[in-house]
Amino acid sequence: MLRSIKYLVGAAFAGVLLISFFVGVSNYLSSPPAPTAEEEFHKHPKHLALASDGPLGRFDRQQLQRGFQVYKEVCSACHSLSLVAFHDLEALGYSEAEVKAIANQWQTEVPSVNPETGEPATRKALSSDRFPAPYANEVAARAANNNALPPDLSLMTKARHDGGAYVYSLLTGFQPQPAELVKKFPSAKTPNGLHYNPYFANLNLAMPPPLTSEGQVTYAPGNPKPTVDQMAKDVSAFLVWTAEPKLEQRHATGIAVSIFLLFATILGYLAYQNIWRTEKSVVRETGVLDPKNQAKTARARGKAGIQG
Ligand code: HEC
Repeated sequence: MLRSIKYLVGAAFAGVLLISFFVGVSNYLSSPPAPTAEEEFHKHPKHLALASDGPLGRFDRQQLQRGFQVYKEVCSACHSLSLVAFHDLEALGYSEAEVKAIANQWQTEVPSVNPETGEPATRKALSSDRFPAPYANEVAARAANNNALPPDLSLMTKARHDGGAYVYSLLTGFQPQPAELVKKFPSAKTPNGLHYNPYFANLNLAMPPPLTSEGQVTYAPGNPKPTVDQMAKDVSAFLVWTAEPKLEQRHATGIAVSIFLLFATILGYLAYQNIWRTEKSVVRETGVLDPKNQAKTARARGKAGIQG
């Protein structure tokens, strides 16, 4: 009795699930979800080839220095880089004295306390400081940016899929909104104060195009021309470095470990061959039940004159 009730309850659940499945499928077929502007107009990042790509990749220090210059002269007006300290820049090839000078001349000062009065004050940055944020806090940052918050850029290239290429595409992707989009999705018209950019997830970005003209940043002689495209590439390479400054060490460790494992595999295989070479060809007498052993014992008994 109890058992049949159990089966009935189970069957009822399965039936309800089945019904809801078919209802769901028929609803989906009769009124499919409306396409959205994001679905149709969002683009994946463009291709960006950097020296640090691939398992053997190494940073192009010259490019990182240019990228740092773009960050310093353009992006740092709005974006913090809170996980990077000035002395980290030595990895880009700057000398200790150059880093000191960069810190000393940084446009924002570091919050501090006046030692004489105890009042809040600011002081010049030191090599050991991290990059000071451009705004005192989130409220100030939003107030200056149309209520949008410029995110910290330290880990940006890790936080987005294909980060280096994403930042590059975003910086070079500002464009007028396609007329076709507005025609098809009137409600998706770029609101005032936002900027159309098909590489941004929801297509409209609060950041005004930061790189707009060739020569916005002056590169030292011997560097490529500072076109918008070049500056965007360079600052993207720099942000790949800030997000993973130990990338070269990681690559080197990976290669060393792979070589070691390959070597260990070869040694292991040779040891295996060495041990089994003779073992497999030798026939062993393995115990009293082995016919060869029985023959032997029979012979020994016969020799000793023992019967049976
Ligand atoms: C005038 C201020 C300003 C400047 C200058 C600026 N940005 Fe932005 N940035 C913003 C704001 C505001 C946002 C937030 C946008 C949003 O959430 O819609 C943002 C967002 C971003 C994002 C994040 C996009 C995402 O996927 O969330 C990246 C990356 C970025 N900026 C890179 C840069 C780089 C690189 C530079 C320098 C070349 C730069 N920005 C210069 C204001 C600025």
